[in-house]
Amino acid sequence: MNVVCIGSGYVGTVTGTAFAALGHRTTVIDIDADKVELINSGNSPIFEPGLDSLLPQLVSRELLSASTMFGEIGFADVVFIAVGTPSQADGTVDLTYVKSAARKIGEHLNREQLTVIVDKSTVPVGTSDLVASIIEEASGLRANENFAVVSNPEFLREGYALEDVLFPDRIVIGTEHPGARIVMRELYRNLLERTNYRELSRKVAFKMNLNAPKAVYFETDTKSAEMIKYVSNAFLAVKISYINEVARLCETLGANVLDVAKGMGLDSRIGEKFLQVSSGWSGSCFPKDTAELLETSRKYGSDLLLVEAAVDSNWRMHTNCVDKIKRQLKTLNGKNIGILGLTFKPNTDDARHTQSSYIIDKLIALGANVAVHDPKGMEMFRKINGHLPVRYCQKAEEVAERADAVVLMTHWEEYAALDWAHVRSRMKNPYVLDTRNFLIDHRLSELGFRYEGIGI
Ligand SMILES: NC(=O)c1ccc[n+]([C@@H]2O[C@H](COP(=O)([O-])OP(=O)(O)OC[C@H]3O[C@@H](n4cnc5c(N)ncnc54)[C@H](O)[C@@H]3O)[C@@H](O)[C@H]2O)c1
Repeated sequence: MNVVCIGSGYVGTVTGTAFAALGHRTTVIDIDADKVELINSGNSPIFEPGLDSLLPQLVSRELLSASTMFGEIGFADVVFIAVGTPSQADGTVDLTYVKSAARKIGEHLNREQLTVIVDKSTVPVGTSDLVASIIEEASGLRANENFAVVSNPEFLREGYALEDVLFPDRIVIGTEHPGARIVMRELYRNLLERTNYRELSRKVAFKMNLNAPKAVYFETDTKSAEMIKYVSNAFLAVKISYINEVARLCETLGANVLDVAKGMGLDSRIGEKFLQVSSGWSGSCFPKDTAELLETSRKYGSDLLLVEAAVDSNWRMHTNCVDKIKRQLKTLNGKNIGILGLTFKPNTDDARHTQSSYIIDKLIALGANVAVHDPKGMEMFRKINGHLPVRYCQKAEEVAERADAVVLMTHWEEYAALDWAHVRSRMKNPYVLDTRNFLIDHRLSELGFRYEGIGI
């Protein structure tokens, strides 16, 4: 098939690469000429494990290419919309990029055959109707005759994106159009049947488990598909907030949240995933998706009180970390704090809306001097948080220089491998707050640290 993917960010680049790897001739379109140039020269515009090795092979075999021009839409069987949907100040989604992509689709649409337009971006319920009306207006063509809009939300996790797209738990397809259903099944056939996966496994940098359970292909109506994405993310946010609250209570009562979470997760009705304690959830998806869902539920008088509580609890979790440091250092005024990790999780360079930025902001407001390190996320963090007067360190141990506290925010493997005795020797006051309980087996207390995790 001829596939076009509009947007070459975290979702678009991975989606485009995956469909090219599955044998479809794929063009990624982005308004950002730098990203387009990177792809065409065989480089990934984002850091995501596995892309660096697979993407150049597909580009050189001419299965994958990128462009700033939208003309390729006229030859496409399927056009994905994978542009950003950031939050506006009131919490609702800004659909500017989606609308602009829809207009471009309308201007270039094939007039001879049905084109399937697929919303991969996370968009509020009803957006597929909006996209259809914009395309109708820009093309003069009719929805469900010349083209059909399908909702196919994305569930990938950054850091495992390629793996998740090639081995998804489920593929959700929302459309009422029978022809579009046939096209979507054909588009995903190689993935569902794992055609050529053996050959593919030699090209990807991660170990493909060819015996993993196959994806469930779930067809539903458009609105339900749009809803599934939001309520899934909100559910996961609730689950994390819950275990974080439990962690705080464990700390007070003298229980150990690691064992508590393990004991809970052994129940298959609960499951062990998303019971990892942290300084709170953050990143480019959960905050904006919960905010949008809450605004929509309020607008229609159908409040989601649990989600509201999870958001509130999450802010408290961020603040709780600052309070912990304050308790140890008495005052933060003039204190040197080293931060390890700026991204919301390891193995990504995505530093949008991370808990680090919130906590660093608070520390600075309370008079602290902050030094930071992240293996991949410093460039983006600096771009987004230019107003924060922090010292960027090229090496992780530099954040410890004369530090009164080192705070581990993101559990990058390389932080476990640090020479912690050396880190200790550089610190003024050997206090470590480990917001991920990641270094618990490193016996930092035996090295002379005052070591604190969360809920342990
Ligand atoms: N990042 C994730 O982990 C993830 C997971 C699931 C779903 N999503 C959803 O997928 C969507 C995309 O997220 P992302 O993280 O990939 O965003 P991103 O910001 O990384 O990428 C968006 C890209 O779209 C491009 N773009 C914007 N307007 C355009 C236009 N009119 N034409 C062509 N290109 C345009 C931008 O230049 C950018 O490269 C969002 O709705 C997000 O909520 C993201």
